[in-house]
Amino acid sequence: MTSLKNKVALITGASQGIGESIALNLSAHGCSVALVARNEARLAEVAKKCEIAGAANVMTISADLTDLENLESIVTQTVEKLGKLNILINNAGVYQGGNISECNILKWDNAIDLNFKSIVHLTHHASKEIKKTNDGGVINISSIAGKITYKGGALYCSTKHALTGFSGSIYDDLRENNIKVCTIYPGFVNTEMGREDHLDETKMIQPEDIAKTVEFVLSFPNTGCPTEITIRPQQNSRKG
Ligand SMILES: NC(=O)c1ccc[n+]([C@@H]2O[C@H](COP(=O)([O-])OP(=O)(O)OC[C@H]3O[C@@H](n4cnc5c(N)ncnc54)[C@H](OP(=O)(O)O)[C@@H]3O)[C@@H](O)[C@H]2O)c1
Repeated sequence: MTSLKNKVALITGASQGIGESIALNLSAHGCSVALVARNEARLAEVAKKCEIAGAANVMTISADLTDLENLESIVTQTVEKLGKLNILINNAGVYQGGNISECNILKWDNAIDLNFKSIVHLTHHASKEIKKTNDGGVINISSIAGKITYKGGALYCSTKHALTGFSGSIYDDLRENNIKVCTIYPGFVNTEMGREDHLDETKMIQPEDIAKTVEFVLSFPNTGCPTEITIRPQQNSRKG
């Protein structure tokens, strides 16, 4: 994809954090954006910011992505309103920590639905439309937890590791259709999910850094595809 201008991007988890930053940056490069999350009021605020940033067109879709029945209609609504679909940003996700024998297994199941199953279903529907453009991208936001394992990380790490297998395989499924597929693995990012008392926010990775990475991947020459990018904080962000 040599230019982002007039491309149509669907961004999940766009009501705040990393998804909001990605939406704003794609808007600034002239994309039309479809913003998906549950919170309608926050989506409307981000939509206004995207218009000001320069988006060709903006729409919001309030939906719970764990309701897998919703997902085909998200793609249909986007194409009906914005004319086509070039780019899918699978960003929405939740952190769920805990010990395997003591966890709330229903909460874990719900997190699996959001962090993995919704991505599989949404990409299934979206990829059919993206293929039609012969100029697109699917970006999956993973985490350092998709590269490592740790105590208390069974749920989060496994959903992010699963994304690696999914993403690598669909790269092969979609490459001949001129669709870039990339997994991004950030460390702690300065968002509601990533902020912790012991971390210095100014030294954390910023959501705008992830947005720049997405821009880099999508704007990469048509002859290459960065398939995996890990982002670590430049400086140690632990206080003290
Ligand atoms: N922050 C970090 O340190 C960090 C590090 C590495 C990777 N990541 C990954 O980056 C992605 C974005 O994280 P973030 O830090 O931006 O988190 P965030 O600030 O908590 O934002 C999460 C987004 O997902 C949406 N969302 C949550 N549950 C949803 C559901 N059931 N249906 C639809 N949308 C839902 C939220 O919107 P609503 O509440 O409006 O639905 C929100 O827009 C996640 O996949 C996360 O795993 C984050």
